[in-house]
Amino acid sequence: MILFHISGEHPLLPVEEIKAIYEAYGKGFQIIANSEHMVVSKSDLPSGVLSRLALTRAFYPVNRIASIKNLIKDIPSYLQGSSSFSVRCSGFESDREMERLLGNSVKRATGIDVDLKSPEKTIYLFKLGRQLFFSLRKSSPPPLSPRDPNKRPFFHPLSLSPKLSRLFLNLARTREGSRILDPFCGSGSILIEAALMGLEAYGLDMDMEMVWGAIRNLSYYGLSARVSTGDATNLEEDGFCEMDAIVTDPPYARSSKTYHWSLPKLYAGFLASAYSCLREGGYLVFAVPDNPDITSTIGASIVRPISPFEMRSSFSQYVHRSLTRRIYILRKPN
Ligand SMILES: C[S@@+](CC[C@H](N)C(=O)[O-])C[C@H]1O[C@@H](n2cnc3c(N)ncnc32)[C@H](O)[C@@H]1O
Repeated sequence: MILFHISGEHPLLPVEEIKAIYEAYGKGFQIIANSEHMVVSKSDLPSGVLSRLALTRAFYPVNRIASIKNLIKDIPSYLQGSSSFSVRCSGFESDREMERLLGNSVKRATGIDVDLKSPEKTIYLFKLGRQLFFSLRKSSPPPLSPRDPNKRPFFHPLSLSPKLSRLFLNLARTREGSRILDPFCGSGSILIEAALMGLEAYGLDMDMEMVWGAIRNLSYYGLSARVSTGDATNLEEDGFCEMDAIVTDPPYARSSKTYHWSLPKLYAGFLASAYSCLREGGYLVFAVPDNPDITSTIGASIVRPISPFEMRSSFSQYVHRSLTRRIYILRKPN
């Protein structure tokens, strides 16, 4: 059983990302308890895999407990050999008061000292509805900020953040060794995260300067991916076939180049081309501006005989006053 402390930055995407990772690793995802920022899944995944998550702040292997009394009864065996402990509670009417009460009871039961600054063991106690969960181990995905666009040698103002790049890759059900393509790779944000996640990454961009920039950014982090110039509406020409996933952030025609294409034409051409170079069961994850002209183009393109994707889901995400994105998760049927 794993308890996820999820980010509050979107109401649905954090859980969708966790579900996608379970699916990628062939595990069922069953929620047995949840609250505003917590979700408990019945089955486990290795912490190395869960560290890929972009919208999870921390995760804990947990046990369900019948009562706090039972926890206090069992706690001496959990703390055996430790010289100090602390308690962290979440979901109670007053978490601080609960920490104080439980800390005192455990100290009385074990004789071990409370140390709030650097305890040898920390007891985590969560209340979700009427259920209580307890853990002795907290893990957090490593910070993504060292790869923020402004910290890379080649900067492009429209670069996707490492967080969204990772989110898109996870939503595409990728795992180590998956062959992924970003056909509008720009400065290489998605390729960098993909390479760090152990994926076989390929990138294309029409703009030679972007291709050089992406290669420079990748090598700055000691990473590599195959990046070249090419047209996202003509991927077959570049020899792409049987890709496991296509994960990308196409131009929104704000300050990004679309060359001779109107946005609807560019998106329709890209969807048709992406369909033909994905393997069956492969995923396409991308985002576009969330406005009716664009979303109706996407809707019409994926029912055409030429690119009959299965729509797994789509999410609206507010970016700022003049941009709301729609993130699409499409699958090529078997
Ligand atoms: C929004 S930017 C991608 C930003 C990228 N995700 C990043 O983090 O830097 C879109 C990119 O698509 C490229 N582009 C536009 N039309 C294209 C096409 N038909 N084929 C390939 N690349 C294209 C542009 O040159 C631009 O670099």
